[in-house]
Amino acid sequence: MFKIGVLTSGGDAPGMNAAVMSVAKSAALYGIPLVGIKRGYNGLLRKSASLYDDMEELRLDTVLDIADLPGTYLRTARCKEFMEPKWREFAANTLREMGIGGLVVIGGDGSFHGAEFLCQLGIPCIGIPGTIDNDLPYTELTLGYDTAVNVCVDAIRAIRATSRSHDRPHVVEVMGRHCGDIALTAAVSTGAEIVIVPEVRWSVEDVAQRLNRQLNKGNTRATIVVAEGCWEAMEPFDMYNFLNSHGKKCFEGEPISANRFASILKRMCGMVEVRSTVVGYTQRGETPSARDSAFAFEAGHLAVRLLRDGISNQVIGMHNGKVFYQSIGEALQTKREFRRGLYDLVNNM
Ligand code: F6P
Repeated sequence: MFKIGVLTSGGDAPGMNAAVMSVAKSAALYGIPLVGIKRGYNGLLRKSASLYDDMEELRLDTVLDIADLPGTYLRTARCKEFMEPKWREFAANTLREMGIGGLVVIGGDGSFHGAEFLCQLGIPCIGIPGTIDNDLPYTELTLGYDTAVNVCVDAIRAIRATSRSHDRPHVVEVMGRHCGDIALTAAVSTGAEIVIVPEVRWSVEDVAQRLNRQLNKGNTRATIVVAEGCWEAMEPFDMYNFLNSHGKKCFEGEPISANRFASILKRMCGMVEVRSTVVGYTQRGETPSARDSAFAFEAGHLAVRLLRDGISNQVIGMHNGKVFYQSIGEALQTKREFRRGLYDLVNNM
């Protein structure tokens, strides 16, 4: 029987270890030896001084111990070399030399493109969606997203408590790259008054007006949840001139940030204080939620079953709460539907 390889790639996401554990359990069930490849596709490029640093035989014992831990035991990385055909061929040859006849790739869209290339080079691959961003439109859930949202919800609830005590609005920035899903779900779950996402164009003046409406209603602790990618959807605003003419030193060309945005809103709305918090990497480093762990477990098992049955070039996803699989190519072409109704609900209340 051939061996199976497993790797985690891109940003780490809660649930990656649980998926690896499930792959290991399933491989053991079918009597298939399993190799863990370290630091994403880098492990296949054999860059490390010792082979053990690039890959290790995965014992079920080891993996069971780390199953509930956040982060990824296998380590992860973004592998620029994989953009070049010569390195992809190198990786395919490494897999063949190691007797690895199938690969489970846990990661986001970049990682899936890598898997698709390996399939074209004759290496059967199955992808499991692992990214907190939830930016893979073919699936309603990616590993880590549910946990990341819960981290943001906890943070926003705590922030709203202190904001209420001080009667001051708060800007909270959450992750998600170009996707506003974490921000939107966290905002709706906490009753935040304003949410700003990369999918909808917005202006500073309009947000200031909306904040003013909240303040006029007596809601002095309004929360403005912003997705980290929302700045790319912002109408042009001369932050340098605005802040410098309102008594706050700002450098020309300085990028806008949650902190700067809070300063602008404070001045535009005539507030004494508007504070800001960036939730940041705590979203990635939390223990996986039950939902993420359960999905990881089902997905890991299905991935091994597919490889065992000679089915390749597929990614696993969730639709209407059920786990399914689909070809990588089709999955990557799925268009994203932004939940505009939910966005309007948050912003119009
Ligand atoms: O893709 C997951 C993610 O956490 C994004 O939300 C964020 O933009 C990015 O990774 C941060 O990447 P890095 O770990 O390279 O700073």
